[in-house]
Amino acid sequence: MATAPSPSATKAAFERRGALELNRLLRAFPRKAFLSWRAAFGTYMSRARVRRRVRRASRPVPPEIVRHYTRIAREQSRFRSTRGQLEFERSKELIRRFLPRHRAVIYDVGGGPGTYSFWLARRGHEVHLVDPVPLHLRQARKRAKREPRSAPSAFLVGDARQLSFPSSSADLVLLMGPLYHLPRETDRRRALQEAHRVLKPGGRLIGVGVSRFTSMLDGSWEGYLSDPKFVRIVRRDLRTGEHRNPEEVPAYWTTAFFSHPRELAREIRGAGFHLHGTFAIEGFVWWVPNLDRKWLDPVLRRRLLQLLRVTEEEPTLIGMGPHIMFVARKPIRRRRS
Ligand SMILES: C[S@@+](CC[C@H](N)C(=O)[O-])C[C@H]1O[C@@H](n2cnc3c(N)ncnc32)[C@H](O)[C@@H]1O
Repeated sequence: MATAPSPSATKAAFERRGALELNRLLRAFPRKAFLSWRAAFGTYMSRARVRRRVRRASRPVPPEIVRHYTRIAREQSRFRSTRGQLEFERSKELIRRFLPRHRAVIYDVGGGPGTYSFWLARRGHEVHLVDPVPLHLRQARKRAKREPRSAPSAFLVGDARQLSFPSSSADLVLLMGPLYHLPRETDRRRALQEAHRVLKPGGRLIGVGVSRFTSMLDGSWEGYLSDPKFVRIVRRDLRTGEHRNPEEVPAYWTTAFFSHPRELAREIRGAGFHLHGTFAIEGFVWWVPNLDRKWLDPVLRRRLLQLLRVTEEEPTLIGMGPHIMFVARKPIRRRRS
């Protein structure tokens, strides 16, 4: 009479059969195919890791920057002053020269409360506003309720180093803020890589850097050089471009990066863009004495702006004003035939 096998004997037989089966399968599977599959899988995994690494912002936006824009800076009303009007009018003038003629998809990254977003949406473009400061987005949404016809299509809390937009989806990206708030070169590179990723081939990038010499000129003008702490800040700015204000003195701004115009151009090209040019936004006009009065005189204002246009790309003057605009293009890669 056959006796039922014991449970342990059944398990052993089952394992033996499994091992034999696995051996048979491995022998049948060509070694070459196995190796190439393993190599392909490894490459896929490392690419995925690189992709994730590139797209993940390693650290959050420094809290002092968010505090500065929430408590001290008045971004919503910045353009009301004379110098603010100079900056806004000149930035619009420069942007207009490079705007696509058709209805474009535009990402205004670091767009603050959306001053440029509203202007561009009013001109018929599809604008998505991104900023890390919640106050700015609340202000933009509130304005959208008052001005629904010129409102951006989306308001997103976000960081230039990790955008949530799909690749190759924008005709134009504005980076008018993030690059000068990222003191580390790796972070600026990441922001530029993200702009490159989301732009369509042939799409434009318009960005702004703050000049390396800004705190020296501003401190001399405003009288901050009587404070030795400010002098230390300026010395560091001139040496490294890294602007830090550890005591958060309101007049001394917040964590920033001041670019040398030549370095700015190098960083843009280094991220794979074709650089059209760099332009002084306010140039020497920023420092004209009694500008409030002169700006109200239409003849003087026109003359100042004309002279600024003549010198806007002059390398020896470009770092004189606080803001430098650059215009670049993501190259169209042609398929090899
Ligand atoms: C001086 S404001 C400029 C706002 C607007 N683009 C303009 O030109 O009027 C600088 C902006 O950059 C934003 N910002 C700072 N760091 C950023 C980052 N890592 N990613 C995106 N935006 C950032 C700030 O929140 C702020 O709204």
